[in-house]
Amino acid sequence: MKIAIVRERTDGETRVAATPETVGKRIGLGATVASEAGAGETARCPEADYQAAGAEITATAEAALGGADIVLTVRRPQASLLKGVATGALVIGSMDPYGNEGEIDALAKAGVTAVAMEFMPRITRAQVMDILSSQANLAGYQAVIDAAVNFDRAFPMMMTAAGTVRPAKVFVMGAGVAGLQAVATAKRLGAVVSANDVRPAAKEQVESLGGKFIAVEDEEFKQAETAAGYAKPMSAEYQAKQAALTATHIAKQDIVITTALIPGRPAPKLISKAMVESMPPGSVIVDLAAERGGNVELTEPGKVITHNGVTIVGYKNVPARLATSASQLFARNLFAFLETMFDKKTKAFAVNWDDELVKATVLTKGGAIVHPNIKLPGAA
Ligand code: NAI
Repeated sequence: MKIAIVRERTDGETRVAATPETVGKRIGLGATVASEAGAGETARCPEADYQAAGAEITATAEAALGGADIVLTVRRPQASLLKGVATGALVIGSMDPYGNEGEIDALAKAGVTAVAMEFMPRITRAQVMDILSSQANLAGYQAVIDAAVNFDRAFPMMMTAAGTVRPAKVFVMGAGVAGLQAVATAKRLGAVVSANDVRPAAKEQVESLGGKFIAVEDEEFKQAETAAGYAKPMSAEYQAKQAALTATHIAKQDIVITTALIPGRPAPKLISKAMVESMPPGSVIVDLAAERGGNVELTEPGKVITHNGVTIVGYKNVPARLATSASQLFARNLFAFLETMFDKKTKAFAVNWDDELVKATVLTKGGAIVHPNIKLPGAA
């Protein structure tokens, strides 16, 4: 059983899918590990540490991948990179399949079994494998740090001999994993924090972290959560009411952090140009949804811009800004999943294709797309 790790080739991707810690554990499971030279460099995982953990370091990606049964990756690799891996090999990582069905099909045609970690069911057994949570939690933290760096005032209230500095007002839009961590981090820095969400369950969570919950709490709001715990798209009427409430609130904020997402859809637009213009100069907006189109009308994905004195931070791939922490958690998520595929006693590798975690995450198998949610454009 050979496991391969290669350097990430997506622009701006600094994370790595396996750390020396998880490499050592895999070798403990009975696997051999080959790692392309430099694979962990941007995540500050030195080659010497991979070697000490038992990995073979290869000069090229091709050498690491040749004959591999499992490829671990942060981002979906180009199918062309995977020439030389065994037919039926598992390629496990985040696959970002929506809108990229053609690339998923290319993986199928390359003969690999692509496994999308972001489709991991959110059940207790799989919490340890949940890359969306582990990475969103760090992104929520980093969003507050990025806001603070771009803000020219202090966060906490300070009572000094020279007078009192008032605390910053921070509003977090979307109180899922990232948003709740943003609430907690902004609180720790001493800000006055408020947050909103379309899911009613978020109210109690925000309040338990010391934040004030801001939402139109009508009948639609009370029903606005899917069985899986995600947000539903809201009606036009609700969105209008929410926008009016949000608009008056935003005009009084120093910092707004937006984290609102609906799985498989573009990010909902929550902050219009007029709302940005209602904020005082020096205010900062951090749009964590930038990669999915942004929650802010003016966000330029990948850029930090200023409009009317308001800074709008639109970094893509925020977890990659904390590559070391993000890789550590991502690698553990992957390891926990892989561990379920090894027989503890015999150390034999055997995927149970009927396991609910496997069924939920496998996108391609036997040369075809097999996931019910992924369809090539034009396919029935
Ligand atoms: P997400 O990343 O898909 O979305 C972020 C947040 O944006 C969500 O809370 C969503 O309700 C909110 N949102 C969507 N549209 C909005 C709008 N128009 N205005 C304001 N907010 C809006 O969600 P995430 O962070 O992945 O978590 C979703 C849910 O899953 C949460 O309830 C979370 O607690 C739950 N969860 C459960 C886990 C488990 O049981 N193992 C693990 C992780 C999360």
